[in-house]
Amino acid sequence: MAEATSASTNGTGKAALPITANHVDAESYEMPWVEKYRPVLLDDIVGNSETVERLKVIAQDGNMPHIIISGTPGIGKTTSIHCLAHALLGDAYKEGVLELNASDERGIDVVRNKIKSFAQRKVTLPAGRHKIIILDEADSMTTGAQQALRRTMEIYSNTTRFALACNLSNKIIEPIQSRCAILRYAKLRDAEVLKRLLEICKLEDVPYSDEGLSALIFTSEGDMRQAINNLQSTFSGFNFVSPDNVFKVCDQPHPVIVKKMLGACQKGDVDTALDGLRGLWDQGYSAVDIVVTIFRVSKTMDELPEYTKLEFIREIGWTHMRILEGVGTLVQLGAMVARLCRMAIAPEKLTI
Ligand SMILES: Nc1ncnc2c1ncn2[C@@H]1O[C@H](COP(=O)(O)OP(=O)(O)OP(=O)(O)O)[C@@H](O)[C@H]1O
Ligand SMILES: [Mg+2]
Repeated sequence: MAEATSASTNGTGKAALPITANHVDAESYEMPWVEKYRPVLLDDIVGNSETVERLKVIAQDGNMPHIIISGTPGIGKTTSIHCLAHALLGDAYKEGVLELNASDERGIDVVRNKIKSFAQRKVTLPAGRHKIIILDEADSMTTGAQQALRRTMEIYSNTTRFALACNLSNKIIEPIQSRCAILRYAKLRDAEVLKRLLEICKLEDVPYSDEGLSALIFTSEGDMRQAINNLQSTFSGFNFVSPDNVFKVCDQPHPVIVKKMLGACQKGDVDTALDGLRGLWDQGYSAVDIVVTIFRVSKTMDELPEYTKLEFIREIGWTHMRILEGVGTLVQLGAMVARLCRMAIAPEKLTI
């Protein structure tokens, strides 16, 4: 596949292309870094080390069970399945793999015709290996199509194995789940995202500040694809990765402003806190954007004592719920800020 050939140069950085006019053209049409740095080997996948270890054992052993990999977006599910298929089949990847994703028609007819005929086809593979059918974004397959897979998976299991990737494993019907080994991928940890970002910064010569990288990690919430995309957008827009540039690109409420606002709440200074809120609102952020950022900042704010933090999070949670129910107004957020401030004020001062 194209991504395999393009990515195979990644481990060593940029490909050593001869400097010609074509080369300059090719360089100026830059690939998205998420694709350029898509891992090809299981070893290159960061995070979820226990699960990736299991995949490595399967790759060595050669006898792949049907598998389902589930987890949130951008954490390496599709990548892992492709890496595994490459490790298992090597040069026979092209003939030995059928990939269907949500962009393909995957109704009952496709299961009956395309998948079945691939499963029946004779292909020469390395000894002891099986053909692999990759069903990416399998949670978007209709229940009917999944039902049609049940027997197919069993009948052809001596020659063909299935690898499914999905965001929500509960959208896969029980009988299919029971036929597969389910691997769950967790969101990537900050240190894991940082490691990958540092590698890419080095290979692409991106100037950065440490706070800038922290801002990327903060905005991406464990989603590697988002982190890499935001890195590339910040670099191409501003040529330097600093927190301000990152927040301009990602367009999220700036955590520093939110932190100041929460600091004011902690002191019971309602005017400053409301001014901060008003500032964010006037910048056009939605109520959900604001409340989610307030939650994430308060969670990581070391200045708040444990007790206050718990109380703050509870209030923020209630407000988040009301906003999701449809009342996303400035008044709603203002009321939350007022309640947070009230906690800091001694009860006797509240009575007139
Ligand atoms: N664990 C990881 N290690 C290294 N790179 C990663 C990892 N996870 C994601 N990436 C980067 O993010 C890109 C997208 O990853 P991938 O397509 O595997 O996500 P996914 O988990 O399948 O997401 P989705 O649920 O949206 O399909 C890859 O091209 C790669 O550059
Ligand atoms: Mg995917």
